[in-house]
Amino acid sequence: MIQAVIFDLDGVLVTTDDSHYEAWKQMADEEGIYFDRDINQRLRGVSRMESLEIILERAEKAYTEEEKTALATRKNNYYVALIKKLTPSALLPGALDTVNALKKQGIKVAIGSSSKNAPTILKQVGIADLFDAVADGNQIKRSKPAPDVFLLAAELMDMPPAVCLVVEDADAGVESGLNAGMTVLAVGAAAGNQKAHLRADTLSDIDLAAYIRSQK
Ligand code: BG6
Ligand code: MG
Repeated sequence: MIQAVIFDLDGVLVTTDDSHYEAWKQMADEEGIYFDRDINQRLRGVSRMESLEIILERAEKAYTEEEKTALATRKNNYYVALIKKLTPSALLPGALDTVNALKKQGIKVAIGSSSKNAPTILKQVGIADLFDAVADGNQIKRSKPAPDVFLLAAELMDMPPAVCLVVEDADAGVESGLNAGMTVLAVGAAAGNQKAHLRADTLSDIDLAAYIRSQK
């Protein structure tokens, strides 16, 4: 029986995935490193430094650790400038309705995001006070596909993993939810992921609250 739902943030509740792309693209162009939307798909759900390593696979020179930190900081500065402009219109279809319907039904709700910018984004789009717990990139060492962020979210809600359902748009995030021993709903870019228990294009294409009621 599902008693808690843990939402990934970027690409599940908000449209920030494109801002990540724009910010990495600007940094990569400045450095003369080839980067496109296909490569960007591999960055979904993985941490900032791991994302940088994927981008640097196409670099023609080797970067020192210090230079890598500077590149990641530069990208984050571009990204933060973009997310500071976010408004509630950045919420994805069905996101708010789903969270509210679950809460009304007594289901606990949490955020499980690899992003260190999650608190800023939640505030910008006006949903910071909706959640029982927020687990994000500031609190974990290993990012998705490790189960850490979802296990932390469950712990913060005082819920065992087996009663938690994860909503993810990244293949790495689907893996992470499965590794945590949770039920997984794959949406958006991961909607074709056959390892997930449930799939939907967007949160408005599935009545998650009704699904959970039907499992009782
Ligand atoms: C995830 C995104 O939510 O957060 C990744 O899907 C991103 O693409 C990761 O790299 C880390 O984000 P941030 O904001 O800490 O750089
Ligand atoms: Mg995501």
